[in-house]
Amino acid sequence: MRSWRRKVRRRSASRMMPSEAFAPAKVNLALHVTGRRADGYHTLDSLVAFVGVGDMIAVEASDSLTLDIDGPFARDLATDPDDDNLVLRAARLLSADRGASIRLTKNLPVASGIGGGSADAAATLRALSRFWQMPLPPPVKVLSLGADVPVCLTSSLSRMRGIGERVDILGSTPPVRILLVNPLVQISTPAVFSALECRENPSLEEPVACPLRSAEGTGDWIDWLSRQRNDLEAPAIALQPVIGQVLEELHALRGCRLARMSGSGATCFALLDDDHPFDGEGFRASHPGWWVAETSGLSAKPS
Ligand code: C5P
Repeated sequence: MRSWRRKVRRRSASRMMPSEAFAPAKVNLALHVTGRRADGYHTLDSLVAFVGVGDMIAVEASDSLTLDIDGPFARDLATDPDDDNLVLRAARLLSADRGASIRLTKNLPVASGIGGGSADAAATLRALSRFWQMPLPPPVKVLSLGADVPVCLTSSLSRMRGIGERVDILGSTPPVRILLVNPLVQISTPAVFSALECRENPSLEEPVACPLRSAEGTGDWIDWLSRQRNDLEAPAIALQPVIGQVLEELHALRGCRLARMSGSGATCFALLDDDHPFDGEGFRASHPGWWVAETSGLSAKPS
């Protein structure tokens, strides 16, 4: 276990009950880049789901604000300057002078297109707002932590527009099986956006299919999803060709209904039907360097 901590500010610890919050991975089921603003940020139209694998945030009483990190991917964060860690930034956004001992269990690969840092920041806000009994910050402040943090705060199937500030909750992700695969290569989000050939692409096809709000079943929903895109996939593959290999392997799986990259990569996902069991052991043995997680969409908002 690698861990690090830094005292930030002192204030008396209260006798509050420890609080935990799950930070589910965010999956961009579709991600359309629709334009670019004057400040260089890209406008998006994205369908975002949350799944049953993720990081965990636990908070306990402490005089000062501290962060310890454990879990399989702790080492990849330990070299970050702690002031830049999104968990501490989220805590300070909620209160500049309260103390808490925060533990982050890092189960998700870092900077991998499934919102790890943003999900952690959102879970920190959820856990500390309960722990300190404070309201969540207003949306504009939440957005200052990162474009994906507002949608991660919902942890519900959502349509995200603008640069991330416009979030419409659509409900729960249908009970589809979702396979996440990351080849554990580094890819820089700004580099992927810079490599885009076209920045003005069509929005999601209207009406945005939502299986829980319409008579459409999961099958129709996946058909609708198949007609959408991730506009960042091509530039990401150009920068890291192994992402193309991951997608080919996912498409080739028996029972694969859809395979696509999430966010700016490198994590890709496949939606699998129930008729074909996934041979996780065989897949992992063939790709020992890849991160593989079998999961499903969240049916309820995590605590
Ligand atoms: O918000 P986040 O920190 O994830 O963004 C990382 C970088 O990705 C930004 O600095 C920007 O270069 C790029 N980006 C963008 N448009 C977005 C989100 C991110 O150009 N909507």
